[in-house]
Amino acid sequence: MLYGVSYYPEHKTPEDLEHDLELLIQSGINTVRMGEFAWCRWEPKEGEFHFEWMDPVVERLGKAGIRTIICTPTACPPAWMIEKHPDILYTDNRGVVRPFGGRRHYCYNNPAYREYSRIIAEKLGEHYGANPYVAGFQIDNEPAQEGTGRCHCARCNVKFQNYLKNKYGTIEEFNRRSGGIFWSQEYTGFHQINIPVNTIEAGAMESIKNYYENPTVRLEFERFASDCQIEYQNIQEEALRKYTSYPVTTNATGLATNSIDYYKSTKTLDRYAFDLYPEMRDAEISSFPYAFARGVKDGAPFWVLEFNSGGGHRFGGSGRRQPNPGALKLAVLQSYAQGADMMLHFQFRTFPFGAEQLNYAIVDMDGVPRRRYYEMQETAALLKKLAPYQPAKFANEVAILLDYDVHWALRIKPVNDPEYHYLNFAEKVYRLLEAQGIGADVVSYDADLYKYKTVILPSAIVLPGRYRDKLKDYVARGGHLMATFLTSVKNEDNVGYTETLPAGLTDLFGVTVEEVEPIFSNNRANVKLTLGAEEMTARDRDWCDLLGGEADMIGVYTDSYKAGSGIVSAHTYGQGRAYYMGAGLEDEALRELLGYICDGASVERNPFPPVDRVQVSRRVMEDGSSLYYLLNFSGREVEIPLDRVYTDCVKDAQVDGSISIPAVGFAVLRETV
Ligand code: GAL
Repeated sequence: MLYGVSYYPEHKTPEDLEHDLELLIQSGINTVRMGEFAWCRWEPKEGEFHFEWMDPVVERLGKAGIRTIICTPTACPPAWMIEKHPDILYTDNRGVVRPFGGRRHYCYNNPAYREYSRIIAEKLGEHYGANPYVAGFQIDNEPAQEGTGRCHCARCNVKFQNYLKNKYGTIEEFNRRSGGIFWSQEYTGFHQINIPVNTIEAGAMESIKNYYENPTVRLEFERFASDCQIEYQNIQEEALRKYTSYPVTTNATGLATNSIDYYKSTKTLDRYAFDLYPEMRDAEISSFPYAFARGVKDGAPFWVLEFNSGGGHRFGGSGRRQPNPGALKLAVLQSYAQGADMMLHFQFRTFPFGAEQLNYAIVDMDGVPRRRYYEMQETAALLKKLAPYQPAKFANEVAILLDYDVHWALRIKPVNDPEYHYLNFAEKVYRLLEAQGIGADVVSYDADLYKYKTVILPSAIVLPGRYRDKLKDYVARGGHLMATFLTSVKNEDNVGYTETLPAGLTDLFGVTVEEVEPIFSNNRANVKLTLGAEEMTARDRDWCDLLGGEADMIGVYTDSYKAGSGIVSAHTYGQGRAYYMGAGLEDEALRELLGYICDGASVERNPFPPVDRVQVSRRVMEDGSSLYYLLNFSGREVEIPLDRVYTDCVKDAQVDGSISIPAVGFAVLRETV
């Protein structure tokens, strides 16, 4: 496992640099990430390139066993460039141009900027591409971060019009598919179409209140902007690849952004890589972002290029709490257990200056190593010890399906917002499975479903025909599928299906949606669930697709005018089973329902009795033996009974009967074969 920190040699005096390098070397880490904001040093004047300030750092660290991830610096176009080409600057949805003075102030479609970016990437590739002390390349820094993924400049507008023209061919076709007749929006030429002024971008501001734009145009703009950023990324990727065979990637913002379709953007990259800043004081870190990360490249290991390093000051003035002692180590181990093969803290030593002055780091401004440094040192040693277990594979039998069109469509036209959020709901499902010892993968609609015994499809509101066919085939061949409320409501143009819902899937589920409404606090009703021999009552939530049809109703309303109507159904289709959960349910009931469905598909559970906030992840070694990571986020010591003799891989000892795991602690157990 590659483990380390981000580091900024360009900030340092020679004395500080010397001091820091010594500390880095002593810490036992093996990776640093450098350069992502250093363009003005690499190319201080147009066409004049300088690497001599960085080379000795890369070499010195490399000789001590620390390899460098070299980043292209394109998050920060330098002042000379903006002076020469002010049209590079980014324009937001309100038409406000970001002036030079922050970061990410560029339009990813600007041809001059694309060319400058290609050149600097190529120069870096040429210079570092074969350097033995380099471990890989990062393109840019958090593309689309801080509301920079939806440029609205005039050039983007024209490019968007051309994108639509290419896709739809004729304006009549576009008008027809997008419902242009609505509010008299039939265009007579593509040049009349505007980029929507309202945006769903994380962190962006609403432009005009109560202005409702065409949902097809809006979804197309999301796809277009995502594609343009992928195009921009690929220009740099190609430039680097001319000179290097090291892995090339970029650091995504995990689930935090809605701006780039990572399934698409990561296709040509060697790794999915992302940044994560979870709360670490008395807190359980959700493993859902890791499951998502693992799913992006079909289960391949992923990188965490930035991860918390501690607390103190932060952007925006709120500050961040310090992690409990031990929490950094536990968090790093969690990422490793979940499939990371690189994890880097952001960042090594607190900045005295710049927009991120005083912010958290492993070492404080004075450069004195304290508890977070020593914990990083211990973590580095632990990872070395656990290296033989890294190749262990995942063998989850359940998949949760996610899709960007669905995510975007549900933000463009939200449903019971803020109560219901697509990604939060998917995460809840994931965690309710995890809480009963069932590990799940999170994958795209294009993933291979046949290796899973159970597939969960949350709110697939946009569901094109090809996916409907795929789901039917999966069930027909013996798969167990649970879809939820809001399945197959709209086509890929983000336009409603006019067939009975779930459109095209009424035969698969054996249900028809008879009526729909959001579930607020004042219209909740009780549902009786019959799960085999068990019966339970639960309140609904989120949304209600009231069901009719021939399927067995395993959930039925017991009060309000809905009494007697079906809300959760089960249906045999071919060799498999298809379940439709028409409403959200309280956590306990949802957990039981998921467990019931998984049991019906013979999904295996972990052999340990579930303990609240103790996460277990299972990997499988080459010899077939199971390896379990037990991560204690509960804040107290726990005693876990064992079903057999295990090897404690950290203590190199056999354990039998039970194992006690300290608060903010962990155990790594291997089945003794
Ligand atoms: C990330 C960013 C880093 C740094 C960090 C917060 O989003 O990539 O450069 O700003 O946040 O300290």
